[in-house]
Amino acid sequence: MASRVEIAPSILAANFAALGDAIRAVESAGVRMIHIDVMDGHFVPNISIGVPVVASLRKATRLLLDVHLMIENPERYIEAFAQAGADTLLIHQEATPHLDRALAAAREEGCKAGVVINPATPVATLSEVLGSVDQVLVMSVNPGFGGQEFIPNSLEKIRQLRDLRSRHGYRYRIEVDGGVVPENAGELARAGTEIFVAGTSVFHASDPAEAVRRLQQIATDAVAEKV
Ligand code: DX5
Ligand code: ZN
Repeated sequence: MASRVEIAPSILAANFAALGDAIRAVESAGVRMIHIDVMDGHFVPNISIGVPVVASLRKATRLLLDVHLMIENPERYIEAFAQAGADTLLIHQEATPHLDRALAAAREEGCKAGVVINPATPVATLSEVLGSVDQVLVMSVNPGFGGQEFIPNSLEKIRQLRDLRSRHGYRYRIEVDGGVVPENAGELARAGTEIFVAGTSVFHASDPAEAVRRLQQIATDAVAEKV
């Protein structure tokens, strides 16, 4: 049974020459999933991980692979990432004119389908897909780089997503990505965040497992206090 809130460490901030060690460190903290940032140098001004790395990670861990596609026309690569072992495919609303097709393709490949919005994209632009997605990821930085500062307007978007879900009976989980640190984890949890992507605050910490446990504790306590 999934806990109400969970941390998804983003390996973008890990040492790429020792990804196996990074994964074992966060496995020891009890995480269920890791977050993998795929960047193409077009949709975002950076290049990172591609299909072969996802396939290698699939062989190295049983953790769920939460694959964030920061690439133009993601529908071209959905089959390849699914076959490489992605569990969830996160597709940007801004990256394709065929969002519904891309999300449907992810589901047809047996993946969970998530939709992502950039900081300047309103929740309202997702009205036609919220009923069919498994996750909604709110970017709390402009995508492309780790280590950026949290953009606070994401909190209101998370609240909107939580309210829309309860009003319409939708089933998606709410995820946030970018600038997540112990100082904002409580507020994010109270707003309705269920999956916290965290890169720098986990892998640049002296003890990544302890950093995960701390974020998890802060978020869990914040939800418990709210009730
Ligand atoms: C940014 C990526 C994030 C990134 C977050 O484009 O989508 O997943 O790794 O890194 P931090 O936690 O350092 O902001
Ligand atoms: Zn990401």
